[in-house]
Amino acid sequence: MQALKNIWQYEAAAKEALPEDTWAYLFGGADDLRTKKRNSDAFRNYQIRRRVLVDVREVDSRVTLFDRELRSPVILAPVGMQRLFHSDGELATARAANDRDQLMIVSTVSHFHFRDICSQFEKPPWFQLYPTTDRTITSRLVKTAEDLGSRVLMLTVDLPVPGNRESHLSSLMEHIEGGTDMPNVADLADGETVYDPSMTWEMINWLRSQCSMKIVLKGIVTAEDAELAIHYGADGIIVSNHGGRQLESDLASIEALPEVVAAVKGRLPVLIDGGIRRGTDIFKALALGATACCIGRAFCYGLAVGGQAGVTKVLSILDEELLRDMRLAGVTSLKQINANFIRRKPAGDYPQ
Ligand code: FNR
Ligand code: LAC
Repeated sequence: MQALKNIWQYEAAAKEALPEDTWAYLFGGADDLRTKKRNSDAFRNYQIRRRVLVDVREVDSRVTLFDRELRSPVILAPVGMQRLFHSDGELATARAANDRDQLMIVSTVSHFHFRDICSQFEKPPWFQLYPTTDRTITSRLVKTAEDLGSRVLMLTVDLPVPGNRESHLSSLMEHIEGGTDMPNVADLADGETVYDPSMTWEMINWLRSQCSMKIVLKGIVTAEDAELAIHYGADGIIVSNHGGRQLESDLASIEALPEVVAAVKGRLPVLIDGGIRRGTDIFKALALGATACCIGRAFCYGLAVGGQAGVTKVLSILDEELLRDMRLAGVTSLKQINANFIRRKPAGDYPQ
């Protein structure tokens, strides 16, 4: 097989490698997949304004997030149940991320216990929290994450209930809802769920009473909610629509980013995920004010195709693309990538 050169080729290869229902779960999203598609397509509404005659022999993609310096602004988004994609699941992903010193965010509904995933790392990953309807269990999840050295808790706020995932096997959705095969939430009783439709902004106060980790909210897409996040003392925001898996007709993440960045005014780091498949997508997100980017499906395609080595390859492709794009655009560090480097197409939409 020819070496796979980019994320789209990994996507095609993952489709070949996975059983149909697993592929549908990974690739799929809500309703007619329009938001999922728009996440990627909307990057084409933005163009890069490059500069020339800059010495670009040395380029640096380091970024500091909270107290940690990251070698790359590309972060592995929380993705549940990764053994669906490869028998080593989250352990393979963790080894790849650790070898490359890239940050991984571990899902509540991972197929391995958070402790076992942490043990693959020199620097602890972040933990993504689904609240669960049983606060005793939620409290234990938070405390376990903190005890294992996690400095950041990422609370997912765009899943009060699961989206309409018609492409998913219903048995898979039942697993997600009930915590089956998910060691972090194995003791969730019948009738309890990992998501909690009653959760409100008060949750941030409650989490503060449980731990001293930084709290990052995942799934903010409006200026109003960015303001509330700051009001309630969140430490960071990730602009996300869950990869188009929740509300159909949600804003594409890259289209929601500018209003969130404008509202935040530099008070918090703003991350983004959704549709990122190329170095230029990362460059555009940074130019629009993101501190870093998360990728979900892209690394899972690598996992499905080649386990740990596949994840490593996907991460290295995106980093190499970004470094090349920085050189071509005339920047040598991420800090230099600002609003002067991007413009929105004046009229119309991306070509279909
Ligand atoms: C996800 N996502 C997700 N988010 C979350 O907060 N907790 C989770 O357990 C999961 N699980 C999950 C499984 C699968 C198969 C996918 C594809 C996604 C959403 C994920 O963190 C992220 O927001 C999106 O994947 C980003 O979009 P892209 O990069 O996949 O386009
Ligand atoms: C999903 C859940 C696990 O998007 O967040 O499939």
